[in-house]
Amino acid sequence: MKGLLRAADAFAAGDSGVKRGRMASLFEVMTGRDIAVVGPIILLGSPGAGKGTQAKLITRHYGIPHISTGDILRDNVSRDTELGKKARAAMEQGDLVADDLVNGMVADRLRWPDAQRGFILDGFPRTVAQAEWLDKELAAESRRAPVVIYVDVSYNQLLQRLTGRRTCPVDGKIYNIYFQPPLKQGVCDVCGTQLFQRVDDTEAVISERLKSYERQTLPLVDYYNRQGRLRRVNGELPVEQVTQQIFRAIEGGAAAAND
Ligand code: AP5
Repeated sequence: MKGLLRAADAFAAGDSGVKRGRMASLFEVMTGRDIAVVGPIILLGSPGAGKGTQAKLITRHYGIPHISTGDILRDNVSRDTELGKKARAAMEQGDLVADDLVNGMVADRLRWPDAQRGFILDGFPRTVAQAEWLDKELAAESRRAPVVIYVDVSYNQLLQRLTGRRTCPVDGKIYNIYFQPPLKQGVCDVCGTQLFQRVDDTEAVISERLKSYERQTLPLVDYYNRQGRLRRVNGELPVEQVTQQIFRAIEGGAAAAND
């Protein structure tokens, strides 16, 4: 594993030794005589499970983009684009945005050049219909099937995680006033900008988001389990330990993909 992770670090740093022979959604890292394959990676889990926190660490490690449908939608809402206008009401109520809108948005993002070597999907798919669409899209583009990481956190931890979350608007760094407070209250450690609280992190909206998750997203655990793609990690451990489990799960998926 260390070999792959070192090689992945080298790749992220722009080092050579990377085979890019075919147009695939993966990047391949030469490790001696073996070629290890990483991604695409799907982070699955309830609101507040730590998907965004972990995605940022995976991106830094492997040098593949973090594609968060929630972030893209929030950006569209704040710029009041056509997409943002259509998504706003559902997001404010804690409901899911319509599948066709989100699928189209993801299809566009996957065509960016940076996603050709691999990518991490955070918050997508979120319904069985989205997962079926993604399977077809990946197959149509001759990309590999995903490694699905299920970040498992019990219900009673989620409320504190969500009500305590604060985010930096400049670099996207995520804090928590209970578990990961900034050094100076309300201010980003990295850039000194004032942190903000997401508008959907109120108790009323959180309750709706958790209901949507149980009804529409939890069935994806079965969906990917049946495909043999699901890797479950314990999301209640400290952040660094969750990250280590995820790296091992990705490596397991990579090994299976190379068998
Ligand atoms: P989205 O932005 O995807 O929100 P979410 O899924 O509800 O997930 P969160 O961002 O709330 O949580 P997270 O798992 O990323 O946790 P985080 O790392 O921040 O979606 C928002 C909305 O957009 C949806 O409600 C929907 O309307 C719409 N939408 C998005 N995608 C869609 C789709 N595919 N289809 C339809 N609609 C869609 O961590 C949370 C907190 O916990 C932080 O404070 C963090 O510091 C803390 N924390 C993290 N890890 C740990 C740890 N190990 N220990 C202690 N604390 C931790």
